[in-house]
Amino acid sequence: MSSTTTATGADAFERHLATSVRSDEERARLMAEPGFGTVFTDHMARITWTERDGWTHRRIEPYGPLQVDPAAAVLHYGQEIFEGLKAYRHADGSVWTFRPEANAARFAASARRLALPELSVADFLGAIEALVQVDGAWVPSGEETSLYLRPFMFASETFLGVRPSREVEFLVIASPVGPYFSGGVRPVSIWVDETFHRAGPGGTGAAKCGGNYAASLLPQQEAYAKGCEQVCFLDAATGTYLEELGGMNVMLVGADGSVTTPALSGTILEGVTRSSILATLRAQGRTVTERPIALDELRAGLADGSVAEVFACGTAAVVTPIGRLKGEDFDLTVGDGTTGPVTASIRRTLTDIQYGRSADEHGWLHRLA
Ligand code: COI
Repeated sequence: MSSTTTATGADAFERHLATSVRSDEERARLMAEPGFGTVFTDHMARITWTERDGWTHRRIEPYGPLQVDPAAAVLHYGQEIFEGLKAYRHADGSVWTFRPEANAARFAASARRLALPELSVADFLGAIEALVQVDGAWVPSGEETSLYLRPFMFASETFLGVRPSREVEFLVIASPVGPYFSGGVRPVSIWVDETFHRAGPGGTGAAKCGGNYAASLLPQQEAYAKGCEQVCFLDAATGTYLEELGGMNVMLVGADGSVTTPALSGTILEGVTRSSILATLRAQGRTVTERPIALDELRAGLADGSVAEVFACGTAAVVTPIGRLKGEDFDLTVGDGTTGPVTASIRRTLTDIQYGRSADEHGWLHRLA
């Protein structure tokens, strides 16, 4: 395989295809009820980086286990970042993704924070395009289904000293998915954690790195024990303000139809779904505010009805209604506990664009196949 190439985008990726792939019947069986993140396609995209040579060996290769040295830096110091985006099949069979440049930009920002090498937008998009060109048959067409794309980058150097890795691997894997939460799109319950925090000022909260998610797992386990699907974190500095959920942003809908979400404080992730929802709502003329939201304010608003709806949003979650908010000394139902009209309408507006059912006025769709 040559390490230098003049081709760009998807054409730069050499195709080393699997000698045997799943049959049409087996693929159909695996895609029938995909769940989230358990089934993977036949191939993966990959690029290797070394401090000496930069990014080389752009290739598509069979999906399979990686050979990683037990002393690889990522296994010890967690130098890793990832992204999440989806490929949607439209009614005419074409395949599209949503705002991939935004994911590429966030991936580059995460790389800077984790002292990993930046990947160009062309390589980020090229890897996704090349993978979907090869594994396009894995993009499902059922309601609420898509091909979840997971780009990630990790420190692969065999070295136990604590410094940025001089060798890095970038991969994209793909998984046909249905709704993130089991049981389909339905209101979920949230546990508000007042003990643990996800990220602190000056930390990695705004980066999409594995460490942030690792820090969320114990509180997430606590949430499950309390009968909730997700955990909500408060800011680490004061323990007062809502930050985000374990793997998604959060928004409040007022009784007057206005929408409020925690401001980007440097400790929360700037979700692509979050920013798309805010832009869509603003274009509709709705009042949208990004500001610190105290847990006390949310509790009072749910109690007096001035907060009518609460929802989670993210690539995986799309727009998920929140029906109940629990903490050590409170247990509040949001509205009547069912999906509110504004939440339902935002979800519909967004998914209509993603699935090609309505005009893409913002130019957010990017054709993959
Ligand atoms: C996403 O929404 O794509 C995420 O990365 C959240 C979660 C699945 C980790």
